[in-house]
Amino acid sequence: MAGDRSISFRNVSKSFVARGERFTALDDVSMDCPPGSFTALIGPSGCGKSTLLRLALGLDQPDRGDIRIGRLAPREATASGDTGVAFQDPALLPWRNVEANIALPLDVIGKPRSAFRDRIAELIDLVGLKGFEKSLPGELSGGMRQRASIARALVTRPGILFLDEPFGALDQILRRQMNIELQRIWADSKATTLLVTHGIDEAVFLADRVVVMQSRPGRIATVIDVPFARPRPKELFTSPAFHALNDVVTTALHGA
Ligand SMILES: Nc1ncnc2c1ncn2[C@@H]1O[C@H](COP(=O)(O)OP(=O)(O)O)[C@@H](O)[C@H]1O
Ligand SMILES: [Mg+2]
Repeated sequence: MAGDRSISFRNVSKSFVARGERFTALDDVSMDCPPGSFTALIGPSGCGKSTLLRLALGLDQPDRGDIRIGRLAPREATASGDTGVAFQDPALLPWRNVEANIALPLDVIGKPRSAFRDRIAELIDLVGLKGFEKSLPGELSGGMRQRASIARALVTRPGILFLDEPFGALDQILRRQMNIELQRIWADSKATTLLVTHGIDEAVFLADRVVVMQSRPGRIATVIDVPFARPRPKELFTSPAFHALNDVVTTALHGA
């Protein structure tokens, strides 16, 4: 990719007008995600997490401040395929099979699908959907659709991965499985990852650090480092040290 894989938010503010009144959704948010790092963003509903991702994707503009994806402005990074994104709703096109859905970002940035045949096969393998290449989204479980959408986010080999509550709709068991898979996918792709989540345990399991936001106005309340060695085994979920750190995040969140 062009430039490095860092993400930088510098004094970012954003306001919206709702019912005739202007309110501050994000107030002076600064944060740096080093290349290859995994950052989890957690905070009360409405504190501006999705807005921050939308700004980082260049889908909207901040009122003040600057966002850089490596050396690029968000819109340039998105247009070049340097950023991959997956949302809570996998939003697969129902008439396209798994393979064709994963290829979608290639169409968007104008790359021929034929040149990525090996890449698509590799991703299908990586997310455990081998044998389902020709299946339509309607024939898949929720977890499989979510895995297809993560494969789609990775197809351009983005240096940056934005995930907005990607497992929010899944049950707890499936969610844990997806957390373990996501750790593997992230380690393999080396993408700098910013994950928005409501799950404290998910944040602590996956991230190098948890950024806790507060609302009205949306600000960073505190940043908590997660020291556990990688790769993190699933037994971590039940360890005392893990629970202790979950408690720290919970306290920060409720104090926020
Ligand atoms: N395009 C928009 N127009 C008006 N208000 C918006 C818009 N986008 C987001 N908001 C408001 O900004 C606040 C932050 O929203 P959002 O970033 O979606 O929060 P979160 O993802 O943390 O739940 C909310 O109050 C939301 O209603
Ligand atoms: Mg949101």
